Parts: sequence; structure tokens; C-alpha cells
Amino acid sequence: MVVKAPAVKLSSGYEMPIVGLGTYARNAEPGQVRQAVEWAIEAGYRHIDTAAIYHNEEQVGEGISNKIKQGVVTREELFVTTKLWNDKHAEADVLPALQESLSKLKLTYVDLYLIHWPVSVNEKSEDTEIDYIETWRGMENVVKLGLARSIGVSNFNKEQLTRILSVAQIKPAVHQFEISPTLTQHDLVNFCIQSSIAPVAYTPLGLLSDARPEFTGKDVIKTDPKLGELAQRYGKSRAQVALRYLIQRGITVIPKSFTKSRIEDNLNLFDFKLSQEDVDIVDGYNLNLRCVPALTMAKLKNFAF
Ligand SMILES: NC(=O)c1ccc[n+]([C@@H]2O[C@H](COP(=O)([O-])OP(=O)(O)OC[C@H]3O[C@@H](n4cnc5c(N)ncnc54)[C@H](OP(=O)(O)O)[C@@H]3O)[C@@H](O)[C@H]2O)c1
Repeated sequence: MVVKAPAVKLSSGYEMPIVGLGTYARNAEPGQVRQAVEWAIEAGYRHIDTAAIYHNEEQVGEGISNKIKQGVVTREELFVTTKLWNDKHAEADVLPALQESLSKLKLTYVDLYLIHWPVSVNEKSEDTEIDYIETWRGMENVVKLGLARSIGVSNFNKEQLTRILSVAQIKPAVHQFEISPTLTQHDLVNFCIQSSIAPVAYTPLGLLSDARPEFTGKDVIKTDPKLGELAQRYGKSRAQVALRYLIQRGITVIPKSFTKSRIEDNLNLFDFKLSQEDVDIVDGYNLNLRCVPALTMAKLKNFAF
């Protein structure tokens, strides 16, 4: 069964499918990312999320070009995101960084280019304190050159978003940050929606993913019997309930899976709707705990958390 996800209209005028495939994995096996991208496109995904720092852009590109060659999908139907790494924040470094990503992806443009973090470092990971406003000018330039259709940011806070909005010629169309039933982020999500910035949830399954050992015992999404009953009532999995909860809040989700059946399940979210009472139940699992606290960046000047 091929599933078509609805799209979110961005301030840039382009549309972004509300479900995308996340592709980050610390220990991916050779070919695993390409295979996941191919399974995803076959299942109906039209939105793929990668980043320069994931070191998998070549595989993402291979998966995409294989499916285009096979006639399964056209480039125009796809929405591909990649991200600028922290050591390329000087205005003059943005264009070559994107050109390198495009070459690896075998694409002539990306649909969305994001500043991955507001912090900037050199090759020795030392703070270079480059103002992300300077970086934003480089981002605007790649839109003008036709190399990115939309631009946005990731892992920013409200004050940083406000600063960008106050000077931007091209406003950020997207903010990608961690949102899940255990990190509900109502304040930042509302701010984004009010500012016409589409929120995208990374790590949308939160503690279901066992991302951090210190969360053992707090993984309610995985273990709580009430959520199990709720999922059973809708004939869906716990993961599908978590993703549907985010979508019903107007949030785009980019769950990562390299397992064919889960890739399919994570897109199969459009034949049920949670009642408001059940949305409130899922919302009640909030622990305000980040799976991605990024502690190694915590001392850098522009760190947002
Ligand atoms: N902007 C940023 O700074 C940032 C940070 C983190 C992540 N991201 C992006 O967001 C994507 C998603 O985040 P994430 O990978 O951290 O976490 P996630 O998507 O919430 O969780 C991924 C984990 O959940 C498992 N999983 C997937 N679907 C499942 C299902 N239906 N049932 C049970 N388990 C399931 C996966 O295992 P299997 O693969 O074995 O199925 C994997 O271990 C990343 O891949 C990346 O593209 C961006």
C-alpha cells in the first residue's frame, strides 16, 4: 500500500509533506541508509531528512536517484532537507558547503537547507562565536542562487528566532527541534506557528528509542499500559499514536527507521484520528527531558538550551 502524506504550506510558498524519513544513525551499516530511503519512497514517503554531519548524503542521493531512474518518483515530487554544519558558519562558507552537499546528494537544489545549530566552531571544535545572523545572510544567498528552495534553522531558542526574524530578508520557513510526547515543547511550537515558521519534530518517538540509558524506567511511551490500551483501541502501535499526536498538533515528524515494516508503519497515520481526550492523555506524558541535550556544545556562546 502506498500512503500519501498531506503537506504543510511553508512561508516560502512551497509545500512540505508532514511525514519525512529521518536518516541519522551512529552506527549504520554500509548500504543501510540507501536501502531505507528506497523502502521509504516505495512506501510513499516524499520527504527525506539528512545533514552534512550524518555523512550519509551519498547514500541518500543514491537511494533517490535509483527510485527516480526506476520511474517510481520524480525529483519535483520529493522534498529533500540537508543541514549546514557548525564549522561552516562564516557567510562565505555557506555556498561551498551546500554545493558539496548537493554534489553528494546528486541534486541541483535542496527543498530545505537548515542551519543545524546556532553555535559555530572551527575544525578543532573550538568556539568561533560567529553570529548566526551572518550565517543567515549566506543562507539567503543560496536561495537567491536557486540552490535551496526554502531555508530554516534547527535547535534555536525563542530569542534567537526573534533576532533572525527581525533582520531576515527571507524569513526562516522551518524550525526543526526535538519534540515528542515526553518533550512536548508547547511554548516553542506555539511561537513558531504564530511566526509562520513550520515546526518539525526530530526524535519524535522520544524515549521509545532508548536513546539514553539514564532514561531507563522513564520510558513511559514504551511501557505505560494505558498508552498500550489506547493504541490497541485505535488498532495502531504506540509509535503510530505518538506520531499522530504530533501531526494533530500541526507538527511535521521525521521518524528514523531502517526497518522496512516500521518505515511503512510510521507513514501509515492517516486512517485514524485521536480524540481530544486521547491527545490530552499523550500530552500528559511530558517529562521535559531531552534525548539530545548536546552537552558537548553547552559551553559554546550561542548554545540555545
Ligand atoms: N536537527 C537535529 O539536530 C537533529 C537531531 C536528532 C535527529 N534529527 C533528525 O531526526 C530524525 C529522527 O530522530 P531520531 O533518529 O533521533 O529518533 P526517532 O526517529 O524518534 O527514533 C528512532 C529510533 O526509533 C526506532 N523506531 C522507529 N520507528 C519505530 C516504530 N514504529 N516502533 C518502534 N521503534 C521505532 C528506530 O529503530 P529502527 O531503525 O531499528 O527501526 C530508532 O532506534 C533523525 O534520524 C534525523 O534525521 C535531527
